[in-house]
Amino acid sequence: MKKHNLKTTILSNRQVAEDHYLLYCDCPEVAISAQPGQFIHVLFDQGSGLLLRRPFTIYSVEGTQISMLYQVVGEGTSILSRMCAGDSLQVLGPLGNSFTIDESLDLAVVLGGGAGIASLMLLISALQKRKIRTDVLVGAMNQARLLSIADLQKIGIQPQIATDNGSTGHHGFVTELLLTTLAQQKAQLPTVFTCGPYGMLKAVTEICQQFNMPCQVAMENRMGCALGVCLGCVCKVRLEGGGQDQSGDLLFEYQRVCTEGPVFLGQQIIWD
Ligand SMILES: Cc1cc2nc3c(=O)[nH]c(=O)nc-3n(C[C@H](O)[C@H](O)[C@H](O)COP(=O)(O)OP(=O)(O)OC[C@H]3O[C@@H](n4cnc5c(N)ncnc54)[C@H](O)[C@@H]3O)c2cc1C
Ligand code: FES
Repeated sequence: MKKHNLKTTILSNRQVAEDHYLLYCDCPEVAISAQPGQFIHVLFDQGSGLLLRRPFTIYSVEGTQISMLYQVVGEGTSILSRMCAGDSLQVLGPLGNSFTIDESLDLAVVLGGGAGIASLMLLISALQKRKIRTDVLVGAMNQARLLSIADLQKIGIQPQIATDNGSTGHHGFVTELLLTTLAQQKAQLPTVFTCGPYGMLKAVTEICQQFNMPCQVAMENRMGCALGVCLGCVCKVRLEGGGQDQSGDLLFEYQRVCTEGPVFLGQQIIWD
């Protein structure tokens, strides 16, 4: 798929939850081909001297506009959060592979932890368009950091909510909601789609293994080039056919999250 490297301007950039912002820009070339799970690599300068790009998943596509929902975690996202309509961005994308929706799929369970829900919104919209029943589970540290609930309701989804401190929804981890949801599935075999913190992705994969259910995870390893060159983003992926070496370690290869990913089968990742 063709990648574009475009100069664009910010249309809006507003706070939507504690430490989280939603940014819109006009990117017709990216909008027309973006697939669920794909990301853009964004360069913003603002005289900061910050030369590296930062990767963000495409949150929504509306006509020629795309949006990204991001959490402020460090220098780059902090600068980005202070940028305004009219400021310029350089956007490279769309990048990476995408989630796979099998023709036969009739039940999807989509689970987002923290800013991870940002990587799942295009997927949820695609599942809705295909009229596939979709259970959405959203987890956050607390109510102030809960994301995307109104956006989900707008497309007809009533998500189950979990917060670590119990300020709204289930008091506990979102993986506890997953356990209950999967235990209730008697007739259908859902596919689980997920994105969030590393530890949560590992736990979701283990739960899906326990229920023998397929699971697609979007990895968010730190990135350098996002073009498959620097090898800064690799993760360990089990070799096809499995197997172990002479000392009993699983056979694996390193795969690049930016090009072979960001979406992998959870069961194929070797979680450290
Ligand atoms: C494919 C992909 C898609 C992504 N999509 C989104 C998205 O839609 N919304 C969103 O909020 N974030 C997303 N991220 C994460 C986002 O890119 C990082 O949070 C951002 O680059 C941090 O930049 P910074 O300069 O603010 O932080 P830095 O100053 O670089 O780092 C600050 C702190 O955050 C940690 N950190 C930085 N990057 C990551 C990372 N990728 N994973 C875990 N910890 C990290 C650092 O270790 C450090 O502790 C995505 C990452 C990838 C690889
Ligand atoms: S970020 Fe450079 S190879 Fe993936």
